[in-house]
Amino acid sequence: MRERCRVEETIYNMQQTGPENLQVISDFDMTLTRFAYKGKRVPTTHNILDNRLLIDENCTKKIKKLLNTYYPIEIDARLSTEEKLPLMVEWWTKVHKLLMEQKIRKDLLAQAVRESPSKLREGYKMFFDHLAEQNVPLLIFSAGIGDVLEEVIRQNHVFHPNVNIISNYMDFDHTGVLQAFKGQLIHTFNKREGALAHAAHLTELKGRQNVLLLGDSLGDLTMADGVSNVQNTLTIGFLNDQVEERKELFLNSFDIVLVKDETLEIPNFYCTVMHKTA
Ligand code: TMP
Ligand code: MG
Repeated sequence: MRERCRVEETIYNMQQTGPENLQVISDFDMTLTRFAYKGKRVPTTHNILDNRLLIDENCTKKIKKLLNTYYPIEIDARLSTEEKLPLMVEWWTKVHKLLMEQKIRKDLLAQAVRESPSKLREGYKMFFDHLAEQNVPLLIFSAGIGDVLEEVIRQNHVFHPNVNIISNYMDFDHTGVLQAFKGQLIHTFNKREGALAHAAHLTELKGRQNVLLLGDSLGDLTMADGVSNVQNTLTIGFLNDQVEERKELFLNSFDIVLVKDETLEIPNFYCTVMHKTA
């Protein structure tokens, strides 16, 4: 924490108005899911599609090559968001085009998720269940693939009614084959636009002036930009990769920075504290 006092004051202020004034906005890949498990990277929603059921070997190779080119740019501390922006659009556009060429079948997505080593962070059940019990809305805002994301949380039995999702959703034709992606493309650095565009529809979030925001990228900090009349915001950043290079940047941007923490212990602690005084 850069400013411990500010964090304590924010939590205190949030406690005073209780869970009925709280909303949680969280990124998905590498924020609600783990970054690594037993020394291996955990797949993002895009990478879960890397299954022969859905895409061929040639496509896998091309998507991996794009990942190796663009992911280092996404997390490069020396580049500005403005410099990264067009390159992210390029990455997402190329990958989505490749996926569309594969004629992915909707009815095989659930199996691909089951067969993948995808993993939500330790403590996820408490996190999702607690927010549902307290009727605190959880908005998951992901530049990943919405259909896959939904399946991951469904298979982990935490797709509760308080969960809303903004993401890139697949558009299937009448035979259930992927033909396009719906709506405006969401990538890591245009979440602000998505937040502003979607906020109006999420009426249940109105009047909840306290925001707990979780992310693993500086781009995630704009996810709450669609919320009007915010009184208190507490931001928690998961610093998973390029730790030394990005530590300063993260500490200057998030209220709390968790370094290589594969759990949801701190967000869970926060939720418990909110509940106790309610
Ligand atoms: P998020 O907004 O839920 O974190 O999802 C975005 C992440 O997806 C971002 O960190 C990069 C990652 N990604 C892949 O892993 N593979 C891909 O092909 C693409 C386009 C993105
Ligand atoms: Mg992420």
